[in-house]
Amino acid sequence: MHRITLALPLFLSAARAAIDLDVTNDSSIKDAASKIAGGIAAQYKSVLEESGVPGLFNDPHYWWQFGYTFNTLIEYAHLTGDNQYNDMTKEALLFQIGDLDAFMPPNQTRNLGNEDQAFWGLASLTAAEVGWENPEGKKWIDLATNVFNTQVERWNPEETCGGGLRWQIFPFNKGYNYMSSMTNGMFFLLSARLAKITGNETYSEWATKSYDWARSAELISEEYSVWDGTDADSNCSEINKLQWSYPRGVYLEGSAILYNMTEDDKWKEATEGFAQTELFVEEEAGVIIEPACEWNEKCNVDQRAYKGIFARSLARAAVSAPFLAETSNKILQASAEKAAERCDGEGEELECEFTWADGQEGFGLGENTNALQVIQGLLYSKAGTGSGSEGGENEDREGGEGSEGSEGGANDNSPSETDSANSPQETGAAGRTQITWAGLILAGALAAFTV
Ligand SMILES: *[C@@H]1O[C@H](CO)[C@@H](O)[C@H](O)[C@H]1NC(C)=O
Ligand SMILES: *[C@@H]1O[C@H](CO)[C@@H](O)[C@H](O)[C@H]1NC(C)=O
Ligand SMILES: *[C@@H]1O[C@H](CO)[C@@H](O)[C@H](O)[C@H]1NC(C)=O
Ligand SMILES: *[C@@H]1O[C@H](CO)[C@@H](O)[C@H](O)[C@H]1NC(C)=O
Ligand SMILES: *[C@@H]1O[C@H](CO)[C@@H](O)[C@H](O)[C@H]1NC(C)=O
Repeated sequence: MHRITLALPLFLSAARAAIDLDVTNDSSIKDAASKIAGGIAAQYKSVLEESGVPGLFNDPHYWWQFGYTFNTLIEYAHLTGDNQYNDMTKEALLFQIGDLDAFMPPNQTRNLGNEDQAFWGLASLTAAEVGWENPEGKKWIDLATNVFNTQVERWNPEETCGGGLRWQIFPFNKGYNYMSSMTNGMFFLLSARLAKITGNETYSEWATKSYDWARSAELISEEYSVWDGTDADSNCSEINKLQWSYPRGVYLEGSAILYNMTEDDKWKEATEGFAQTELFVEEEAGVIIEPACEWNEKCNVDQRAYKGIFARSLARAAVSAPFLAETSNKILQASAEKAAERCDGEGEELECEFTWADGQEGFGLGENTNALQVIQGLLYSKAGTGSGSEGGENEDREGGEGSEGSEGGANDNSPSETDSANSPQETGAAGRTQITWAGLILAGALAAFTV
């Protein structure tokens, strides 16, 4: 059931201050993005002042989302040329590296799934792609390849589901039996992006292997629906057929990258298949929605951040597969207009609404980051993703610290030789408090009845 709430909420939201945005004007897009990035950064700084621990935002958000948000700020700097948050972001990433130099901080053990780790790995990879100067004694690319290498070690043996990655890293964490599409999709995207930036075939082989596994396990359907997950305890014989926007996004982006690299029909077909986004776009307004929970207002704090991740991949996929540009831009423009209209306040007071299709309220880190992703996503067609030969027309790329070396090849993005002292092993202890699988099913089942 689609909620029919036309004039009234829109009328009410007109009373909110809104951020000015002309989606056809790059300066206006950058101005709008800078207001939102400024809000996110101000909120972070106030949490940091209190905690003294770089890399963490406020509760009740989970650690994965912090990695994703810092990644968004790296993309923001690349897309707009505004480098004022680079030092802050660099400090956050370096502080959260943890064990094995692979984004496994012991404090996060109870919340540390493969997917969570990969969000930080992608942040570091983005820093490499857009040419951030390597930090003292480390390389951004190595931090990302370390995440990849730890996850390869965790790939299931043949007798368990024929392969694949479990959601959780540690057996004592709830959800260790769960095989989520997002976990496998993040590994796929990480592998595809590493393949692109390094040209090393190990990464493209693993990207293909993980994709083929998801197809054979039927986490990805013939029609390219991406189901939520399956259960290793039943040898992946049953599929949980909820659909979220974010795994759809990461499979789309990864496929587009592989298509760009290989021009193989397999990846063209996959790109086109995942790009059938009707389920995630509201018909009337043409804006991105989270269909499994948005209409019945059941999205939890994690789920409220998924639309931005989807939007980011949609924008980036169109860089690698330009035939998607028209569709992608249309969705991003409609979403960006509504998102800007529904942001209010500035600095620490910034609040962006979750829903772009109607007037439903609810504010937080995920909502603000969603707005930033759809707005700055409009700039990818000019700036490119930083990886490979495309784009890079952004005239203000030089500037603050941390962005040098982006053009001149001064930054070394070739991974270091693997250090055997650094080889993966499991670490950590303690229980876990993140959303339970049972809770997810319940929320999803409730949602499914009302969509
Ligand atoms: C584009 O946006 C900028 C900044 O908001 C504004 O100053 C400029 O006049 C706009 N240009 C056009 C052609 O509307
Ligand atoms: C881990 O938690 C301790 C205690 O709160 C804190 O001092 C430390 O900085 C934290 N480390 C990380 C990487 O978050
Ligand atoms: C589990 O399924 C895989 C194929 O998906 C199969 O190769 C394996 O033998 C099965 N394991 C058991 C214990 O039945
Ligand atoms: C390719 O990547 C793998 C995985 O990180 C690494 O072990 C291998 O040494 C790399 N090969 C080359 C030629 O760099
Ligand atoms: C690959 O990406 C580049 C950069 O965006 C683009 O110019 C080129 O057309 C793409 N190749 C294909 C086959 O789509």
